[in-house]
Amino acid sequence: MDGNGRWAVQRGLARVDGHRKGADAVRETIAGAIACEVRYLTLYAFSTENWKRPRSEIEVLMSLMVRHVHTEMDALVEQNVRVTFIGDRAKLPPEVLEGMAMMEEKTSANKGLRVIVGLNYSGRSELAWTFRQLLEDAEAGRIDASQVDETALSQRLMTAGVPDPDLVIRTGGEHRISNFLLWQIAYSELYFTSVLWPDFTRQDFQDAIAAYNCRRRRFGGIDA
Ligand code: IPE
Ligand code: MG
Repeated sequence: MDGNGRWAVQRGLARVDGHRKGADAVRETIAGAIACEVRYLTLYAFSTENWKRPRSEIEVLMSLMVRHVHTEMDALVEQNVRVTFIGDRAKLPPEVLEGMAMMEEKTSANKGLRVIVGLNYSGRSELAWTFRQLLEDAEAGRIDASQVDETALSQRLMTAGVPDPDLVIRTGGEHRISNFLLWQIAYSELYFTSVLWPDFTRQDFQDAIAAYNCRRRRFGGIDA
């Protein structure tokens, strides 16, 4: 979800106004995902690198997370959406952790779209965490080094139980991954759009899905 700052600066607004407007794009994307019968949607909201931003911007981002838990809850329950989070919770402020716990609890029984929000998440930190889980399991005798394979690793990721993404969409015109789901996107299709995140609509989401539907995926094999 990239381009909030540029969206605001283009309008003579403060960067944080772009983050505020970004909530509309989240709502639009969730609606688009439901319309396209997408089962899993992962939103990269705050990376482990985003702590490098000015403190004032981080504070607004964190307070927006808390506010949206409250403003969006009813609509998400109504839409049968289940929300969970990935990332290192240790450094997050207590009010954000409370909001996350409330969101996870209140949507836990929902069986429709699964939304996974990356908060203080990065692919590399997730992998380091996963390797620690593996080592702890080995030390406790739950796994032997000879059993460490791709399945054993996948089962210990923060996304355990969630299928690898079919499609990664990056808004904002940059052509990079920026530490997003590094293990999981090994064979994902990548879609880059110059639309800035606050302008992203359900139609833009549906356009990305339409582009995906024209791709031929071979997973290293050859066409049948
Ligand atoms: C993405 O928009 C939002 C977050 C990372 C939280 P940016 O804030 O990165 O916007 P640009 O890239 O500066 O336009
Ligand atoms: Mg950016």
